[in-house]
Amino acid sequence: MFDQPSNLAPQVETPVTTDHKITAENVNVHYGDTHAIKDVNVKIDDKTVTAFIGPSGCGKSTFLRCLNRMNDTIDICRVSGLIELDGEDINHAKVDPVQLRAKVGMVFQKPNPFPKSIFDNVAYGPRIHGQAANKAELDEIVEKSLRSAALWKEVKDRLHAPGTGLSGGQQQRLCIARAVATAPEVLLMDEPCSALDPIATAQVEELIDELRENFSVVIVTHSMQQAARVSQKTAFFHLGELVEFGETGQIFTNPHDSRTESYITGRIG
Ligand SMILES: Nc1ncnc2c1ncn2[C@@H]1O[C@H](COP(=O)(O)OP(=O)(O)O)[C@@H](O)[C@H]1O
Ligand SMILES: [Mg+2]
Repeated sequence: MFDQPSNLAPQVETPVTTDHKITAENVNVHYGDTHAIKDVNVKIDDKTVTAFIGPSGCGKSTFLRCLNRMNDTIDICRVSGLIELDGEDINHAKVDPVQLRAKVGMVFQKPNPFPKSIFDNVAYGPRIHGQAANKAELDEIVEKSLRSAALWKEVKDRLHAPGTGLSGGQQQRLCIARAVATAPEVLLMDEPCSALDPIATAQVEELIDELRENFSVVIVTHSMQQAARVSQKTAFFHLGELVEFGETGQIFTNPHDSRTESYITGRIG
């Protein structure tokens, strides 16, 4: 072979062998005339907690919702660019968003258990996706999910009590159990502790650290302390741009961009 500039080299399809779970390229989001996300590129690792930080209104939730197509449910929202989960375009016409959301689960700011029993909250997803062949299998999924959400011991004797009767922190762990029940690969969490007291927050943070063993976790947080405690990678958003992305330690101790530095030292936001 003779040398040739690499940009003229034949484009050979090589299998992706990195640990990247999600790849986003040139993602833009508009709500009508509002340009909420501007040309965002990011690679999200498997078995890692990635934190999205930045001032209110900078687009953290909007970008998070791109990752499981929750923006599809907002009429005026338009998303462009490429988002791949394990190399598959999640916005491709053949992808069913309901199936996608079973693989890319979501936990919201306010705990939102269904007005059903604890058991039925967790069993809901596996039932609609036909993931249990019989009652014994369903029982097993429910127990396993409640154990992964560090809630089993507290609720095992009252599985048929209403989920809404639990404390706020328990309700949020129930929502995590519900998200985990469909055997997702990615868990998206949008300020999951903001409605919780400090003790419940500490429990959920500890849980997030455990979930990292099995999932790729992406958490939006307005708390830099929380980002520093729970994440290995941090993305700083500002005015719809992804300003800086890197190892959490580097972002907080040695930010490369002056906007990141201003934010973490409290000068913006
Ligand atoms: N459903 C919506 N309809 C219209 N504009 C929205 C909607 N959701 C968010 N926005 C706008 O998009 C921008 C980013 O918002 P958001 O993603 O909620 O930011 P963050 O989560 O960082 O606080 C803001 O300007 C916000 O007003
Ligand atoms: Mg938000």
